[in-house]
Amino acid sequence: MLKRKDLLGLMDVSAEEIMEILDRAREMKKLFSQEVKKTNSLSGKTVCTLFYENSTRTKTSFDTAAKLLGASTSAISASTSSIQKGETLIDTGKTLDALMTDAIVIRHSAAGSPHLLAKNVKAHVINGGDGLHEHPTQALLDMLTIYNRFGSFKGLKVVIAGDIKHSRVARSNVWGLSKMGAEVTLVGPATLMPFDADRMGCKISYDLDEAVEGANIVMGLRLQLERQQAGLFPSAAEYHKYYGITEKRLAKAESDAILLHPGPINRGLELSSGAADGESSFILEQVNNGVAVRMAVLELLIKG
Ligand code: CP
Repeated sequence: MLKRKDLLGLMDVSAEEIMEILDRAREMKKLFSQEVKKTNSLSGKTVCTLFYENSTRTKTSFDTAAKLLGASTSAISASTSSIQKGETLIDTGKTLDALMTDAIVIRHSAAGSPHLLAKNVKAHVINGGDGLHEHPTQALLDMLTIYNRFGSFKGLKVVIAGDIKHSRVARSNVWGLSKMGAEVTLVGPATLMPFDADRMGCKISYDLDEAVEGANIVMGLRLQLERQQAGLFPSAAEYHKYYGITEKRLAKAESDAILLHPGPINRGLELSSGAADGESSFILEQVNNGVAVRMAVLELLIKG
């Protein structure tokens, strides 16, 4: 069982802990092929999703994961709760403690919000994405997809392409995949590369055609238009021309390479529809693995 109260990011999680989560997630995934997928592992426990930003995959899969483990669930969204009346994050968290919540999954636009919440509540806190910082369960489900396909991380060439600067998914994947022995290359236009990219311990490239050559995993990232100032790239057409992942570009990767994307996809921008729906696309497998990973994280934290 994980010997930690919260899961706030992968930067401070060890390779052994990551492997423990992935192994447990693989056990959870065996349930999916059974007629009755539910267990009573977290019967009597409660999980709350506290989302200050929109979500389809993360929120729904945490809710599904908690229910498949037999837990009760509740959901708070910023637009319809007392957050609109000015309640602070800490007051909302203490209220959830008083409501006997065992785990809170938080998504917030401000980096560090899950850390602030975790220091102030008894409940386990799981980061469902904080600003430009981390999205640990997304990286874990990406890693589960890779592990299920290749059986190991050692020496795998992973290319993460696109809007690195605004991507919490990229950061969590860099920390997680590097710890497991994969070789990560970040590729994108210089205007979408974080200023500290050269201190993240991975390779940096500005040429997608060159970077995908011989790659085992090509991970596209959503162009986060809502977090960008104007002028970071000339036009959508030019962005797609130089940094769009297409079938032609994927053909330069290894023959058994897989395409990943955290979703939601901007079709025709970071991914062509041919690539997104092609044979090497594991995008929907990632979504399915998200439920298994979140079941594992909830169980290991709450029972640990
Ligand atoms: N990948 C991801 O976090 O998707 P959602 O924004 O739909 O949760």
